[in-house]
Amino acid sequence: AARRRPSASSLGFTEVRHGLDEVHEVSDGHTCEPLIAWGDPVVAGAAPLDVRRPDPEAQSTQFGHGNDFVAFLPHRGQPHSSTRGLLAVNHEHSVGKLMWAEPGAVPPLVRARAELTAQGLSVVEVTRVGGSWSTVHGSRFGRRITGETPMRLSGPAAGHARLATSADRSGGLVLGTFGNCSGGTTPWGTVLSGEENIHEHFGGAVPTAGPEADNHRRMGMGATVYDWAAWIPRFDMEREPNEPNRFGWVVEVDPHDPDALPVKRTALGRFKHEAAATVVDASGRLVVYLGDDERGQCLYRYVSDGVVDLEQRSRNGELLDRGVLSVARFESDGSLRWLPLVFGEGPLIERNGFRSQADVLIECRRAAELLGGTPLDRPEDVEANPVTGLVYAAMTNNTLRGKHRHQPVDAANPRPENRHGHVVELIPPGEPGARHHAASAFRWELFLLGGDPGGDVGARAHPDTTVDGWLSCPDNLTFDSRGRLWIATDGMGKLGLGDGLYGCDTAGEGRALTRQFFRAPRGAEVCGPCFTPDDRTLFLAVQHPGNEGGSTFAQPSTRWPDFSPDLPPRPAVMVAERLDGGPIG
Ligand code: FEO
Ligand code: CA
Ligand code: CA
Ligand code: CA
Repeated sequence: AARRRPSASSLGFTEVRHGLDEVHEVSDGHTCEPLIAWGDPVVAGAAPLDVRRPDPEAQSTQFGHGNDFVAFLPHRGQPHSSTRGLLAVNHEHSVGKLMWAEPGAVPPLVRARAELTAQGLSVVEVTRVGGSWSTVHGSRFGRRITGETPMRLSGPAAGHARLATSADRSGGLVLGTFGNCSGGTTPWGTVLSGEENIHEHFGGAVPTAGPEADNHRRMGMGATVYDWAAWIPRFDMEREPNEPNRFGWVVEVDPHDPDALPVKRTALGRFKHEAAATVVDASGRLVVYLGDDERGQCLYRYVSDGVVDLEQRSRNGELLDRGVLSVARFESDGSLRWLPLVFGEGPLIERNGFRSQADVLIECRRAAELLGGTPLDRPEDVEANPVTGLVYAAMTNNTLRGKHRHQPVDAANPRPENRHGHVVELIPPGEPGARHHAASAFRWELFLLGGDPGGDVGARAHPDTTVDGWLSCPDNLTFDSRGRLWIATDGMGKLGLGDGLYGCDTAGEGRALTRQFFRAPRGAEVCGPCFTPDDRTLFLAVQHPGNEGGSTFAQPSTRWPDFSPDLPPRPAVMVAERLDGGPIG
């Protein structure tokens, strides 16, 4: 009965019910089908998927694993197209135990390289013909960027001795990107990809002395997930103590130029990058909001020195090399200050071990702590509302809140042992359409507090939220063109529920009234929600389906989306549309 209650929301779709299933569910009156999944062809002439054994050469031509961020980029001559363009997709991780039947049938180096090449990014051309979307086979834009792809470092830390290794004494040329979580797009049509949990990829002992000891400890080094260090020397911190410093950056990729070298933009700082939300400030400068997704880490903002000039497209990349990175300090009176991470200012001086801006950028976490940045409940995705200019940041959860001595309960992190997370609204000065995103002071408010408002302590939702409409563990965010916020979750499995995608208004009577649009199959979180410019197509990524405790290739908790006894579950990017062809929402 609750689901039929007249609602204050502007979102009129029928809600999906809470639950947990081997299949996905989408709102009645919509279709939602896979567009591309792990192992599908990306590069022209790609090898067909063979799940028997790992093959890094084949993987380097195929769609990667662990799809997260999704960007739809219309072609440059048709900037408003909602039926043809490029999809750029991040691949965050490769779950070997769910990928191959016989991972031990090849030498461990080969298997490690297949895991390495399953991460990074994919670029595919997509088109909607005859009422359905497909990838364009053999497109010249089809490209894999992997953990082995050469890329350039730029900005203040590029070329610094702490980025030099035995293979690259210049400190300027890196092999690969991995742990690619969420991201963003720039006004000039490139993609920003966040390197997040890079500690998982390195092995060997963490140095206990020297300049990298504290740095590597703060980045969580030592909690290794992949065994690559045993087979690929650069992943062994004892042999190459500087290699980890070449990861944990934001990578800029130009999907429209398949030959362009990706660029790691060091001016945006080094931490566990979740996302990179860009907006053009009222002054014309580029502003990028950046989350560092770990319990007790901070929210950052980058402001370019120069202004965005879309007539000089190729020069805009330099905006990401020269600018000021700041960390957010949330005050209990509802104000927020942005504290600049500039070498030589405040505590960022030689006495504290910083000898240059490169040191500040490589050790952002330490710099932010010294400045007094607010430790948050895992800042994940950030997104600016295209209509109001207000900015939303998802704090996914933090069970250490109130227990860890550096993470006291405070105004911006109001719940001890925060299991359900919350969403914070940042309010730059100015009016809609002319917000001062570069201002040094903002206001902020709590937008919603996750959990079941009917039972969970401290949950705060709109009173009309239905039994199916509340959410927990907000992670990925996007906006439709009308300025409605869509929130994807990561962590409802621990409640015995599937993760989902929820829509809500951010203003008016339906403010923060979340409604469930999509529910993922078991084991999966929902990532990369992204609308076409006309809102008629929604792309979303189903990440790590069937990956629950004890899941293996032979016994996953679901074989979504193929349901073939010969195939494991495959992470996939989905296309959702309304059956009547109207805008979603
Ligand atoms: Fe990759 Fe923070 O989620
Ligand atoms: Ca995330
Ligand atoms: Ca987003
Ligand atoms: Ca997540």
